[in-house]
Amino acid sequence: MGKEEKTANRGQWASTQGFIWAAAGSAVGLGTIWKFPGKAYEGGGGAYCLVYILVILLLGAIAMLGEFAVGRHSQRNCVAAFHQLKKGWGWVGLLGVLSSLIVMFYYIEVGGWVIRYILAYIMEPSRVFADPNAYFADLVGGDGAFPWDGAVLYPLIFTVATALILSGGISGGIEKFNKLVMPLLLVVMAVLVFATLALPGAMDGIRFLIKVDWSTINFGTILSALGQCFFSLSLGMSVMVTYGSYLSRQENLVQNVWVICLIDTVVAFLSGFIIIPAVFATPNTAMGGGGSFTFTALSGVFSLMPGGIYVGLLFYLLLLFAALTSSVSLVEAIVSYLTEEWGLGRRTAIWSMSTLIFFVGMAYTVSYSGENAGTPLYLLWFDRRGFYPVTAAAFIELLADRLMIPLAALASCLFVGWVWGTDQARLEIEQNGHFPFRWGKLWAFLIRYLAPTAIGMILLCGLWFGFSLS
Ligand code: PFF
Repeated sequence: MGKEEKTANRGQWASTQGFIWAAAGSAVGLGTIWKFPGKAYEGGGGAYCLVYILVILLLGAIAMLGEFAVGRHSQRNCVAAFHQLKKGWGWVGLLGVLSSLIVMFYYIEVGGWVIRYILAYIMEPSRVFADPNAYFADLVGGDGAFPWDGAVLYPLIFTVATALILSGGISGGIEKFNKLVMPLLLVVMAVLVFATLALPGAMDGIRFLIKVDWSTINFGTILSALGQCFFSLSLGMSVMVTYGSYLSRQENLVQNVWVICLIDTVVAFLSGFIIIPAVFATPNTAMGGGGSFTFTALSGVFSLMPGGIYVGLLFYLLLLFAALTSSVSLVEAIVSYLTEEWGLGRRTAIWSMSTLIFFVGMAYTVSYSGENAGTPLYLLWFDRRGFYPVTAAAFIELLADRLMIPLAALASCLFVGWVWGTDQARLEIEQNGHFPFRWGKLWAFLIRYLAPTAIGMILLCGLWFGFSLS
């Protein structure tokens, strides 16, 4: 099949609702659920939450609308989309494809660990509860043995699951899966909020989350909210360009952006309302975020909770839903590029990418425990102080967080604001006045000036000053 035919035969979302669930599914992911509560805690609670909302409104929603407009206007994969709007600019989409690939290297690993924890809570919760740290170390090779389960078996299951969903196509696979899983995810979250709020001492956590104390806000907290917003909304990786390219012109982009941002932010806050009160209610447990915290400290919290086995099981199930709906979107951005530009069949593209991701991803888990593991893999990273060695796991995350994602996001905002132009983008958004865009001028200002400045700051502070953004 030629390039033209491949492009003509691309899929489309079957319904607005399906598209919204799919895009929200991409946004709601591991980053939303396990990073937000830790960052909100570090940022001092209520004030951080308000800053986060502001950042979503002024930057996240703004950039997302730009990405949807590029995708829908061109109806092409992300590389062809940028190239079609301005010759020679396909590299912006390529940056997105590469970022998606890099993020997948760790997403499938962690997704695999989540599957293992679901099974563990069903089959051997007492082993997890007896020593959560040892259980996790056992999984990721922290005990010195090669982590067969953590690096090979479970990531393989997660990868195959992602590939099978993608094999169903746009409306038959991605959309159907998201429409089923995302509402379920919200229900599970609601149940978990009630379960943790019932714990004695949980109210202290709630009070912390809603107490606004502006003295906790500084440059670092704002930067952390910026990084969180972009990652959590799946921006800068061409995923939203790709998802937008399967949209019909009858869709109101602005309205869809609001709904998707709302769902993602509500999930982030609900996650805060689950994790922070639970940690506050548990003696001798420090708040945190990310992988180790989620698998060790939180398992410790569940072990001391009445009905903790069920709460834990639901929590890891929730994480699995969130991880799968995001990983599907990341691989779809790569697959649509390979099928339309390289002429690969969809099945070939899906399985060859899955194989590549699976093998490179292994290095993430193998090196995760660093010094303690028998097989540490070191690479060099850098900031203004020069080069220094980091584990392959840290390298993959740094490459994505500090370089690729902000660079791709910056390029995409500059493209919409200055190269394609906000007038053209507004024509696409408004569809001949069909969807009046009252905030159009403000949007144009924000995407031309504020968004590039803010993302440029992330890039500079992350790369040069070594600011931690994740
Ligand atoms: N938004 C996802 C999360 O919060 O984990 C991660 C992600 C998915 C980032 C898809 C980017 C993307 F294109």
